Amino acid sequence: MSKVILVTGAGRGLGTDLAREALAVGHQVVATGRRPEEVETTLGGPQDNLLVTRLDVTSLEDAQAATQAAIDRFGRIDVLINNAGNFYAGYFEEITPAQMRRQIETNLFGPMNVTRAVLPVMRARRAGHVITISSTAGLVGMEFCAAYAASKFGVEGWMESLRYDVEPYNICTTVVEPGFFRTELLVDGSTTWPELSIDDYAARTAPTIEGWKRMNGRQSGDPAKLARALLTLADQDKPPQRFVAGADAIEAVQAKAQELLAQAEASRELGGDLAYDDTHA
Ligand SMILES: NC(=O)c1ccc[n+]([C@@H]2O[C@H](COP(=O)([O-])OP(=O)(O)OC[C@H]3O[C@@H](n4cnc5c(N)ncnc54)[C@H](OP(=O)(O)O)[C@@H]3O)[C@@H](O)[C@H]2O)c1
Repeated sequence: MSKVILVTGAGRGLGTDLAREALAVGHQVVATGRRPEEVETTLGGPQDNLLVTRLDVTSLEDAQAATQAAIDRFGRIDVLINNAGNFYAGYFEEITPAQMRRQIETNLFGPMNVTRAVLPVMRARRAGHVITISSTAGLVGMEFCAAYAASKFGVEGWMESLRYDVEPYNICTTVVEPGFFRTELLVDGSTTWPELSIDDYAARTAPTIEGWKRMNGRQSGDPAKLARALLTLADQDKPPQRFVAGADAIEAVQAKAQELLAQAEASRELGGDLAYDDTHA
């Protein structure tokens, strides 16, 4: 069945594949981005089922205007895909406080802005599906990823909790943890390197940056396949609350789950009996 799907960050990477694949199977697509003319060119120009509109996810006003434009054109939004994001790499101490804030502004407050704009429309129809692209780094901390993981762990907690808020209005949520996919995330403009330089870290920082740069273009995941998988989920009556995307991601998340189980068990002796002893009250 044809759905109205709003995608953020549709001008490059996974967002472009999402918009393309959705159009190819007959959905009506609201493809948004900071530079709408580039989004439209990338998607092959004007089409009946395509609305391209400006949306910088850090702006709630943009999000509200894009939502209104979608309603004016297609009358509803069935699926919101919070896809836009970027990567502030670095060791925590070498990332400036301003860089840390910018990371969270885009990756956490960004999807919150767009979801805040779209939810009233979904609640009014008692129908909708919010999909937010997190990352394996939303469940598993990684070296050189302090800012990115902080933003994506925030996404995880927000999305897991949002589920309970909106379930009574027949709105589903899915949070997605991709592994490494061959998009433009590791190119300049999407990846920002740490601005600070601390002697203690210097011998680790330079080779780690080179390692990340070498990975660009060699990531194992195919974003077009991920886009098709996400559209399959969007078609389901009861989509999953979490979708771990890619064999690398599944392995990492399973390892993290085992680690959490072991940590909880290891906490039992010292942490399992910390309740007030009310018999002495
Ligand atoms: N690729 C991976 O390996 C991987 C793994 C895990 C998770 N993810 C997540 O997947 C999502 C898509 O990333 P990608 O891999 O496709 O990276 P990408 O190729 O760099 O694309 C990122 C997209 O986000 C847009 N964007 C960035 N800041 C924005 C803002 N403030 N407002 C609106 N759009 C903005 C970019 O638009 P501009 O052209 O305007 O910059 C671009 O279209 C992100 O949330 C990312 O964290 C990716």
